Amino acid sequence: MTIRTLDALGDVAGARVFVRADLNVPLHDGVVGDDTRIAAMVPTARELLERGARLVVASHLGRPKGTVVEDLRLAPVGRVLAERLGTRVTTLDEVTPDTLPNDDVVLLENLRFDPGEEANDVTFAGALAEYADAYVDDAFGAVHRAHASVAALPELLLASGRRAVAGRLVQREVDVLGRLLHDPARPFVAILGGAKVSDKLGVIASLTERVDALVIGGAMAFTLIAAEGGKVGASLLEQDRLDDVKSALTAARERGVTVHLPSDVVAAPAIEAAAPTDVVAAEAVPEGLMGLDIGPATIAAFTDALAGAGSILWNGPMGVFELEPFAAGTRAVAHACAESGAFTVVGGGDSLAAITREGLAGAFDHLSTGGGASLEFLEGRSLPGLAILEDDA
Ligand code: 3PG
Repeated sequence: MTIRTLDALGDVAGARVFVRADLNVPLHDGVVGDDTRIAAMVPTARELLERGARLVVASHLGRPKGTVVEDLRLAPVGRVLAERLGTRVTTLDEVTPDTLPNDDVVLLENLRFDPGEEANDVTFAGALAEYADAYVDDAFGAVHRAHASVAALPELLLASGRRAVAGRLVQREVDVLGRLLHDPARPFVAILGGAKVSDKLGVIASLTERVDALVIGGAMAFTLIAAEGGKVGASLLEQDRLDDVKSALTAARERGVTVHLPSDVVAAPAIEAAAPTDVVAAEAVPEGLMGLDIGPATIAAFTDALAGAGSILWNGPMGVFELEPFAAGTRAVAHACAESGAFTVVGGGDSLAAITREGLAGAFDHLSTGGGASLEFLEGRSLPGLAILEDDA
């Protein structure tokens, strides 16, 4: 896929450029937690400012569902953006004010306070278009959403002869994830984890066409283990997905993909840090116990599987890593990736949090800012926010 980038934006000196960013960051009591997504759009903002543009930055924050939610105002985000950019940011408390201040960087209020955003409403997009001589999408985390600021707005601008291109963050995400899909260094190993296999069936199907090995941990592994005839005790099991999972495993094996499933797990009667734990066989979890992390034999096998990889894609934790007794598997996988020498790409908030906690962020080649967006990209789907930026669009 080739998309138009800032290189195709032309002269923007004195122009007002609408920058759709994904500043959907965690807020705790009005303070920004992890500011990775804010930092990630700074190169685009700086480049545009250096080229003489004035910026109208817009983002969603959380899911306020079309009404004003005081805790989801963007003011705290604006303060961090100003620090990161090293310039003044004027944060407005309205999404579509009648007039905009003439400042260099203006941040609109949370787009999702207006019901028109999620409805992909053309009238709302028209109001946003009033602020835009040109449009830059740097919100990779939102490119899978057919929302007004992602889809209807650039469409409207293009129809009226204005330019719409991708920012540097979206450009890099598409480059890196695209390369993994189409031209990965081999062996290409994908590690998938997290709670629900139903969220990952699409990506398993797509990756099966491309990877040499699939490494599967987290609670989602239990539906695969059960599909192979294992007894998973009280572990999370998606009974209604057993047939889908069986077909996915058969397809993977038919294509010669090696599938690594846990052989042992750390099990407990409850998801509590103080619960007694035991290491048990993954396909014979006793009644009343649930598997909450991969066990030591699995850690060794997964580490081996990663050691010779040319490319690694990782999405989803190996266990309930927020609780120390169930964190070892995720931690070990983070270190194994970092030490593998492979080209390493990570997506998904939980895996990223684990890597940051281990102080390993700098050891990975690419940390994707898109959770759902990177999964849908890797599923090979056409995403509305990217389709509109395609070179032949
Ligand atoms: C994300 O956090 O993955 C993006 O910001 C998209 O948010 P959403 O899932 O609420 O659309």
